[in-house]
Amino acid sequence: MLDTCPAFDFQQYLSDRRSCVEERLAQYLNGSEPATLLESMRYSVLGGGKRLRAMLCLAAAEAVWQTTHKGLPAASSASQALEVALPCACAIEIVHAMSLIHDDLPVMDNDDFRRGRPANHKVFGDAMALLAGDALLVLPFEILAQHRAPGLEPSILLDVVAKLAAALGAEGLVGGQTIDLQLTGQAGNLQVDLDVSRLEGMHRRKTGALLRFSVWSGSRLAGADRETLAMLSRWAEVLGLAFQVRDDLLDATSTREVLGKTPGKDAAANKITWVSLFGLDRAQQRLQELELEGKALLTDSGLPISALQPLDAMLAWAVHRHN
Ligand code: IPE
Ligand code: IPE
Ligand code: MG
Ligand code: MG
Ligand code: MG
Repeated sequence: MLDTCPAFDFQQYLSDRRSCVEERLAQYLNGSEPATLLESMRYSVLGGGKRLRAMLCLAAAEAVWQTTHKGLPAASSASQALEVALPCACAIEIVHAMSLIHDDLPVMDNDDFRRGRPANHKVFGDAMALLAGDALLVLPFEILAQHRAPGLEPSILLDVVAKLAAALGAEGLVGGQTIDLQLTGQAGNLQVDLDVSRLEGMHRRKTGALLRFSVWSGSRLAGADRETLAMLSRWAEVLGLAFQVRDDLLDATSTREVLGKTPGKDAAANKITWVSLFGLDRAQQRLQELELEGKALLTDSGLPISALQPLDAMLAWAVHRHN
């Protein structure tokens, strides 16, 4: 269904929104001291990245806004949705940067290359990287607490703050990272029989929770009803799983130049991934299944096709990306 829509310039769509995100991120990180701490924070937040999570948050907000504000000219609808969701989209990119800094530390994945350049701790040292991560973990809550937009109810904002904390905590990203490290014996030992559901349970937390929150928060801030929230969240879960399967595949097959991070490190660290458990072919097959599942969820969502095009393109991006 979505393939039959009029031409949609996805690259232009991304480029317009990315510049808003980059500009706002720079404003949020314009502090001056302690100078090295701020420099370290800026290094990781403003130093590239696809901005997939921010794009998902904005696209979800735009899709919902367009559906609930019928009759508004497209440009006004998009700019109102942006006003309500941009702080949250930036907050998500900031915590994501924190998760990458910590993930690369010697006590975790011990990676020295990220986004095509030295990892944060290789430039600023382990202690400063840890502290920059800490500061980047709390800044998003300050940003959200201070967010005001016409018609935005405080109860919605509170809901968003609570859900962000949940997506990051023991039930979410940190819990997933814990399981990831327990399975390599780096954080105690987790003796379990690994099957698809356990593997995907870990992925749902370490990567999926923040991706799901990205879509959920954009939708919630734009005033989505319960049914739409549930449907888009389900779609985001599928995207989140696909995203990590693709990450595992790229680690096994890509190059440092294309990936911007060190390939082959999952096998070297005995990480449990789709590829290590089931091999490249089954991982690729699972990715295709997830793409079809995600497409079907959007097709059946009942939201207008024009509103869904960016989200549909983002699923394809997550599945077919090269970095
Ligand atoms: C990398 O995420 C970390 C994982 C969750 C696998 P991204 O691939 O989205 O990283 P950037 O932001 O584009 O660098
Ligand atoms: C990291 O997963 C997920 C988070 C940062 C929360 P990976 O360890 O696979 O990510 P990369 O491959 O280093 O980007
Ligand atoms: Mg890791
Ligand atoms: Mg890693
Ligand atoms: Mg990886």
